[in-house]
Amino acid sequence: MSEREPITASPEWQRLTDHHAAVGGVHLRTLFGDDPKRGETMTVEAGDLLLDYSKNRLTAETVGLLAALAARADLPGSIEAMWRGERINTTEHRPVLHIALRMPRGSSLVVDGENVVEAVHQVLDRMSLFAEQVRFGQWVGFTGRPIRNVVNIGIGGSDLGPAMAYDALRAFADPALTVRFVSNVDGTDIHQATRDLDPAETLFVVSSKTFTTLETLTNARTARAWLVETLGVPGGPGESPQWRAAVARHNEAVSTNAEKLEEFGIDTANMFGFWDWVGGRYSVDSAIGLSLMIAIGPSNFREFLAGFHVIDEHFRSAPFEANLPALLGLIGLWYDDFFGAETVAILPYSHNMGRFPAYLQQLDMESNGKSVDRQGRPVPVDTGPIVWGQPGTNGQHAFYQLIHQGTRLIPADFIGFARPDYDQAPVQLEHHDLLMANFFAQTEALAFGKTAEEVAAEGTAPELVPHRTFPGNRPTNTILAPRLTPSVLGQLIACYEHKVFTQGVVWNINSFDQWGVELGKVLATRIAAELAAPDEPGAARSGGPGHDSSRGLHQPPPTANDALIRRYRRLRAGG
Ligand code: F6P
Repeated sequence: MSEREPITASPEWQRLTDHHAAVGGVHLRTLFGDDPKRGETMTVEAGDLLLDYSKNRLTAETVGLLAALAARADLPGSIEAMWRGERINTTEHRPVLHIALRMPRGSSLVVDGENVVEAVHQVLDRMSLFAEQVRFGQWVGFTGRPIRNVVNIGIGGSDLGPAMAYDALRAFADPALTVRFVSNVDGTDIHQATRDLDPAETLFVVSSKTFTTLETLTNARTARAWLVETLGVPGGPGESPQWRAAVARHNEAVSTNAEKLEEFGIDTANMFGFWDWVGGRYSVDSAIGLSLMIAIGPSNFREFLAGFHVIDEHFRSAPFEANLPALLGLIGLWYDDFFGAETVAILPYSHNMGRFPAYLQQLDMESNGKSVDRQGRPVPVDTGPIVWGQPGTNGQHAFYQLIHQGTRLIPADFIGFARPDYDQAPVQLEHHDLLMANFFAQTEALAFGKTAEEVAAEGTAPELVPHRTFPGNRPTNTILAPRLTPSVLGQLIACYEHKVFTQGVVWNINSFDQWGVELGKVLATRIAAELAAPDEPGAARSGGPGHDSSRGLHQPPPTANDALIRRYRRLRAGG
């Protein structure tokens, strides 16, 4: 992680630039024509996952050049620095150790003299005990009734991971439990999540790494008020023993910040901890996964962790040409920086993976949405792509038109499974074959398209030929796994985590901070005060409307939204 020349100044980058000029325009039809076996050879396996990258605009030489680029960027050194617990999150002076969260019991990763894996397993054991108590009806609420509803309150990494994984693993969840996720500060979210629940049977898991996040604390306060009011518990916050008992029986917290938790009124006895070396978007496998563990049970949760670990080991040891996450990263970078692709589509052919693209949005865009390198210099090339997507086949009837025939190049990852989530009924297998027929058909259509000659040969009216022609040459990765199990989901997430890491290392950016979310938070706090103030915005500022002498000149003008805020206040008041 030492200071280094921009990667674009390296001979490896230059070689890729020259190579792109030679092969970038070659059609996938030609590439397959020249090497009909590439569908077999351009594959790698890791754990239960198979990556077929043959339908990409590259040759074996490209892969070698990309691997050389990774070596030039010292990806192996960066991987080892992570595993050694070095403070590779330099702007926050923290190690980055989500890999420790899934190391098996008995492993060792020592940071500042402490084996963090032991601490991880202590928390996992406490979580398991608690999860079993809830699942077996032994954890009772304030009125003595067993918990049947679990509501996770969190946002960003404290929501997207468990919410996505709960959906993905619904086939493994206890159907007797209702599990919901509340994230948005829009009061509709908490209202809709609680309005049909019995508070006597409801547990809130308040998940926040920092325990300072406005959305989560606001929702947690509202949830607590709903709980005590609906249960008829006497006393205000912290005032009566009954109030404290009710809150303790119905609120668990997951955080790294015991102090803030206590300030909020949750006893640290009801806390499951984790550590500042776990980034929010890398935390689904920490105690942030508590709601998920309650839903799917501790042994499935441990399978989930074991899946991550399989890929961690693979990423650390496989040569880059055969390294699934590294290849995903390098191929992605090939499109981002040499073809100018701006986005990547994530297209899981699995209904229950509907939230996977949103999960990857945070993972990728919060990690690699950076424009300065580790030394604070502008990065000379495009960094993280825009990540988006929807599950198949729904997306086919919405936005695939643009991928097939639009003017933009949209690399896409197709993720599919050989067996359905529910495979007892033959009808499910029938559905699944249709789903997967579409999965395979789409990557084929995108790669090879349909020429004007082929369209004309079908007897198409000449004026329609251009409209019905498919240019093809649209690149895709195909990831195929046997079934969407907890382990396979862990493997998939780990692949994308390490993909993002690979790209961050090549671009020499810090993938583990997120300063870009701060400014909006600060402004929202100021504006919240303005919305609630008795006076209209601007009136109270010294020097008259629009002027605030306490603010530096570099700050955005505080008047920018005054007119809109005045209108909002009028409309809100019914005027
Ligand atoms: O706003 C961004 C962010 O800091 C994410 O990185 C994080 O996952 C999310 O907010 C929630 O933070 P916390 O878990 O501290 O409430």
